[in-house]
This record gives sequence, structure tokens and C-alpha cells, in this order.
Amino acid sequence: MSIVLGIETSCDETAAAIVTSDREILANVVHSQIDAHRPYAGVVPEIAARAHVEKLDGIIERCLAEAGTDLRDVDAIAATAGPGLIGGVIVGLTTAKALAMATGKPLIAVNHLEAPALTVRLTADVAFPFLLLLVSGGHCQILLVEGVGRYRRLGSTIDDAVGEAFDKTAKLLDLGFPGGPAVERTAADGDPTRFDLPRPMRGRDNMDFSFSGLKTAVRQAASGLPQPPSEQDLADLCAGFQAAVADVLHDRVSRAINHCRTIGLPPTALVIAGGVAANRMLRGQLTTTANALDLPMIAPPPALCTDNGAMVAWAGVERFQAGHTDPLDIAARARWPLDPDAEPLPFAGVKA
Ligand code: KG4
Repeated sequence: MSIVLGIETSCDETAAAIVTSDREILANVVHSQIDAHRPYAGVVPEIAARAHVEKLDGIIERCLAEAGTDLRDVDAIAATAGPGLIGGVIVGLTTAKALAMATGKPLIAVNHLEAPALTVRLTADVAFPFLLLLVSGGHCQILLVEGVGRYRRLGSTIDDAVGEAFDKTAKLLDLGFPGGPAVERTAADGDPTRFDLPRPMRGRDNMDFSFSGLKTAVRQAASGLPQPPSEQDLADLCAGFQAAVADVLHDRVSRAINHCRTIGLPPTALVIAGGVAANRMLRGQLTTTANALDLPMIAPPPALCTDNGAMVAWAGVERFQAGHTDPLDIAARARWPLDPDAEPLPFAGVKA
């Protein structure tokens, strides 16, 4: 059995966890910086990096204490090495390097997109290849996960990520930060059919996404409402937005499942990961989508969907078992696509 310490600092969560190859999470400590960023209604990279410096050592200590382990019991030290806000990534990776150097344990540099891609195998039995819908604040991609380190990108957003669209919708409706959970809560009592919102990219002959037009349509619908809008107006608009996102995800994912079957790589499951995968309505919709094509839909528990150390530790376990460790001079990377062979996207401003 191997035991891996995982460190995550690529955005606004300072997190560390200890996970075993027997799929046991011995400790998983997450410190959210949300309060520090709330006044700006978004993550401020400089504030995030400083907060990681202040908190990380204490979080690792707490994590070891909760797990009842010592660094000597750990077999490898994994940290997110990108992609992400570079200041934060450097803090976590440098700490991991220092611990690896001091203890003589191997270092594992984890891709922040690989961590959620593999986390599902920590909590469920999912065989390769599986189709992954990765939906977070910075990313929106469909990937075929063929093995550890083997990813085929089938589609990606050409502008905003889904979580970004949720956050911007929440911001323009003044619902608070972070936007995703606020939009989901507000949408609960809404009528999704009242506003006629677009379904960008639906029916297109590829597996890409676009959300900036939907966000603009929400803005236009909101500006046509009496000010301030009533609670029912807000609920209806959020429900309409969420339904539009659900329809687009359904269309793109169905196409991807069929595409994989056509090329002779039928997926064993649809897996959804990333912060937006915590959304219950979208989870329900995507379960229906997968089941209609005879596939199970599997998502990690909501607490493992948003950034955390357990996913980094687990990706570390999988890489360690596959014999992948990294040199101590490996660099932090702001951009690091999972599939370096994927075709470049057609527009500027794309998310890697
Ligand atoms: O994966 P994550 O924690 O961080 C990165 O983006 O790397 O994802 C955060 C994103 C935010 O945009 C947040 O608004 C969104 O996930 N999110 C949600 C929900 N919970 C978090 N979006 C929709 N519904 C939710 N319940």
C-alpha cells in the first residue's frame, strides 16, 4: 500500500490531504479563501498567492495530525504544478519540493486537470476509457480518459468556462459570490421556460462549447426587468439560465458519447468533475443523458468536486503506481493542457 500527501494551491483553496492506494482518505483539509476575495466578487491572484504562503504550512501540519501520520510514513509528495494562478501554484509546488528534498521522498507534479479526471476512481470503480466532462470556474472540456496520463480532448469552450458563466450571471444579478451555488439556490423556485435564452453550439458538428452569448442574453433579459427585480424574476432568470446550460451539456455530451463509439473507443461511463459538477440539477440532467445512451453517470461526491487536496493526492497515487515521479527542478506552469496533441481552438481567449 502507498500513502501520498497531496497539496493544492492553484486557485483560492489552500488544501492538503493524505490518501492511500487502498482508496482511503486519511485526512483532507481545505481552507477556502472566499472571504478574502468576496469584496472583489472574484479571485484576486496576488491575494490568493499571499494567503497560500500564510496558511499552507499549518494546513499540512493539521493534515498529518488528523491522519495520525508522520512525513516518514508518506511514500510520495504530490502537488499541483499547473495549470492555475501561477503565484499560488509556485507556493504549493515549492513547499512540496522542500518536503521532498528534506525527507528524500519522491515528488509528483500533478496537472490540475488530471486531478479531477482521476478522482472518480478514488470513490468508484470506473475502468478506462471513460468520458470526462470537466466543468469548473476555469475550464470546460470533454475528454476521453484512456489511462493515467493518456487524455484525448474532444471538445473545449471557445470563450467562457461554465463556472465562469455561473459566476458572471450571479454577479450581474447581484446574488453574491461564489456564483454557482447562489444561482442554483435561486433557480430552485423558478420557471425555466419564462425567458427565451439561447443554447449556444447546440447541434454543431463538433464537441466544443461557448457560453459568452448566453451570459449576454441573461444581461439583456435582466435589463428588461423592472428595477429592482422581484425574487420571482430572479428565480425565473436563474432557472432559465441553468436550463440553457443543461440543454447545451446534454447535446455536447451525447454527441461525444456517439463519437467515441464511432471511433471504436466506447466509454465505460460518463464522469463529471470540477466545481460545477456539484450542481444537483445538472447532475440529474447528465444522468438522464448518459442513461439514455446506456451508460452510467458517475460523479465524485460534491465535496470532492471543488478544489481539494484529496484529488491531488489520489492523482499522485495513480501516477506513483504507474511509475511516474518528477525531478525537483520541474517548473510550475500557468498553462498545461492535458492533451498536448489536441487541435488549437479557433478563437483567442480560449481556456487551455
Ligand atoms: O473546480 P473549482 O472549485 O475551481 C476551479 O475553477 O478550478 O470550481 C469552481 C467553480 C466556480 O465557478 C463555482 O461558481 C462553480 O464551480 N460551482 C458551481 C456550483 N458549485 C460551484 N456551479 C454551479 N452550481 C453549483 N452548485
